[in-house]
Amino acid sequence: MKPNPGGILQLDDIVGREPLIAYLQQALDQQSIVLVAERRIGKTHVLEKLRATAPAGWVMIKRDIGAVRTATEFVQYVMADLYPHLQAKTNFRNWLQGLGEQLGGVQIGPVKLPNFPHKQWKQVLGDTIAHLDDITTIERVIFLWDELPWMLEIIAKNNPQEAMELLDTLRALRQQHSKKIRMVFTGSLGLHHIVRSLKEQGYNNTPVNDMLSIEVAPLTLSDGASLVERLFIDNRLAAATPAVYEQTALAVDCIPFYIHHVVSALLKNPASLGSPLDMQTVSAVIEHGIHSSDNPWDLQHYEERTQAYYGLQRAQSLALLDSVAACVGHLSVAEAIRRAKAACPAVEQQQWIELLRLLERDHYFARDEDGKLGFKFTVVKRWWVWHRSLEMLQTGGAA
Ligand SMILES: Nc1ncnc2c1ncn2[C@@H]1O[C@H](COP(=O)(O)OP(=O)(O)OP(=O)(O)O)[C@@H](O)[C@H]1O
Ligand SMILES: [Mg+2]
Repeated sequence: MKPNPGGILQLDDIVGREPLIAYLQQALDQQSIVLVAERRIGKTHVLEKLRATAPAGWVMIKRDIGAVRTATEFVQYVMADLYPHLQAKTNFRNWLQGLGEQLGGVQIGPVKLPNFPHKQWKQVLGDTIAHLDDITTIERVIFLWDELPWMLEIIAKNNPQEAMELLDTLRALRQQHSKKIRMVFTGSLGLHHIVRSLKEQGYNNTPVNDMLSIEVAPLTLSDGASLVERLFIDNRLAAATPAVYEQTALAVDCIPFYIHHVVSALLKNPASLGSPLDMQTVSAVIEHGIHSSDNPWDLQHYEERTQAYYGLQRAQSLALLDSVAACVGHLSVAEAIRRAKAACPAVEQQQWIELLRLLERDHYFARDEDGKLGFKFTVVKRWWVWHRSLEMLQTGGAA
């Protein structure tokens, strides 16, 4: 395996995730799922591995819908994705073909997708899903929709009503066809941000409260170390001691994206190829990945997105992030707020509490067993401290 940070991996190169996949399959037997996680954790590859291990009788359809612009286009993709799974001469297949011929449409592979009038998208989607009941050989159809929040955001920009109706329609279809279909939503943007912005525009529903929310964590330490080892061996890098594999994985929070980056950077340096690599060399590469104005690990995004995520509360969010980042250990909620207040004194307590909750939901913070706050990922914390030139403080407040 070659390092491929951010690219699409071959199935054999997707390490670990077996317990999560088994859990997802078990959960999907009962209900639909929202897969939540920080960006770049490996959600898309979890979906890929899940699809490849579909039990007999289950059809898993994976589609990145991040660039879909309208509900009509979304429905066309649903039809195109279902088509290859239909046996010849089913009513559904005939219906689909007939609709394409009758209304005219775009040829995608073997099927001419109907150009139905935009206002009929709901009806056509409902009919499409209802026709799945024709197919008795398929027990369950599972739609794995990657980047669904981006699609909703794009649709909502032009037509918030349509985004709300699409969310509601999908929920209704899950209820009406609870035996046959399941949906998995995921994406690099949290769905809660989309729902929140739709609520500001009058949306009142809870569109995913029937779905189970499951978090994709980083790799386990042993899978992270195995990934490092495999990348080293396959690329003719020698480790000074076997402990280097585990220590490297730990130093980047067992996030496979960064592991690929580390090996990629090691390979760029001819000195790496000559002698066995110790942690000092690996740490220098990690340091460069985090502390470099070229932003090779795309960490700048963690600050940039606060504009879109927190809008008018951006200054407060930055103050909270600074106060927690600048602490050597974990910080109590009260102390984090007290420190952040120095930058934004006029903000009320309730707003701080709500913002903290959001920052946890967006995977910046995690609490320890005593309920104290810290950064969830050390890589992000290291970048934050460096980028914002923070002076580190002990928990008690002494410099
Ligand atoms: N299980 C894995 N084994 C090996 N490498 C992995 C694994 N999962 C992810 N990676 C690495 O991390 C990169 C990012 O993974 P992926 O695209 O699945 O993350 P994501 O959570 O979908 O990201 P985004 O939030 O940007 O959509 C991959 O390109 C690959 O380099
Ligand atoms: Mg992805």
